[in-house]
Amino acid sequence: MVVANYKGGVGKTTLASLLAVTLSLKMGRRILVVDADPQANITEVFIPPRYYGVLERGAKDYNMAFSLDWIIGTTGNPLRVGLLDNLFLVPSKPEFMRIAKTYVVPGERVEVLRRDIKVKFKDMDYIIFDLPPQMYGLVGPLVKLGDVLISPVTKGVFSLVSLKYLIEDVKSQPPVDRPAFIGAVLTRFRAVETRVINDYREMVRRYVKQAYSKVNVKWELSEGRFSIDFLNILYAHPKLASIRALPFDRKEHPRLIRLIKGELKYSNEVIKIAEPVAKEFETRVELSTEGVQL
Ligand SMILES: Nc1ncnc2c1ncn2[C@@H]1O[C@H](COP(=O)(O)OP(=O)(O)OP(=O)(O)O)[C@@H](O)[C@H]1O
Ligand SMILES: [Mg+2]
Repeated sequence: MVVANYKGGVGKTTLASLLAVTLSLKMGRRILVVDADPQANITEVFIPPRYYGVLERGAKDYNMAFSLDWIIGTTGNPLRVGLLDNLFLVPSKPEFMRIAKTYVVPGERVEVLRRDIKVKFKDMDYIIFDLPPQMYGLVGPLVKLGDVLISPVTKGVFSLVSLKYLIEDVKSQPPVDRPAFIGAVLTRFRAVETRVINDYREMVRRYVKQAYSKVNVKWELSEGRFSIDFLNILYAHPKLASIRALPFDRKEHPRLIRLIKGELKYSNEVIKIAEPVAKEFETRVELSTEGVQL
């Protein structure tokens, strides 16, 4: 599954990390997160900075690669860091910013990666790719890696325009390179803003419909569980705003994991936001594999 929106800062990393932890802790799924962003934001959520050196040395000794070195094919085996019994991460690092500015993953490499993923990670229920925004040329090719695509949308019309462009690009690919778009997740809205939320739902539908019409894919707008936007919203919560700013406790456990484990003060509130989104995600993945066109 790839989490993408061409626009930066719309909540991709927050959504990806919450889905990963909730699916593994609450639903018992085996999850691999691949940090495909040179900003290394999701790596920062899970790994304390003082371990980076240790990881780098270990990776070098065993000839294993951080995310982008594996993705572009410098080194064959991706480094898989265990975070929980059933949660793993292939970390990124800021050094990748240099290569990722101009590098475009060639089509043949995408093919190789697809096969590589099927072999190396066949024990996973979901592989979640957290993608960078479009300022890096990586996004287009990497979107093709996923079976399903999910996109966060937040306030501001540009995140909708970016979603439209993304879908146009994805849907104009040949079928083999086309992940199923399983929906937009509204993020960072407050529950009381019901009118704003409804307006945004309407706009998501309009923009997605425009994108679909442009690439001439059959599109039937339907309501309820087949709607293009998730019924459940990733509501704004101060603890979600701070998962990266304050990620570690004294024992250096990632706060997001402790939060979803139920160990922190605001755990229940955050679980109440995250769990329905994760459940709806699974339902939509099932629908997409049954061939229901969202
Ligand atoms: N549900 C939420 N509640 C509160 N704050 C949120 C929520 N979702 C995201 N944020 C905040 O919004 C900001 C952007 O989120 P995030 O880093 O997930 O976006 P992104 O799309 O991954 O950005 P980039 O394009 O740089 O990768 C962060 O400061 C994050 O903490
Ligand atoms: Mg991000």
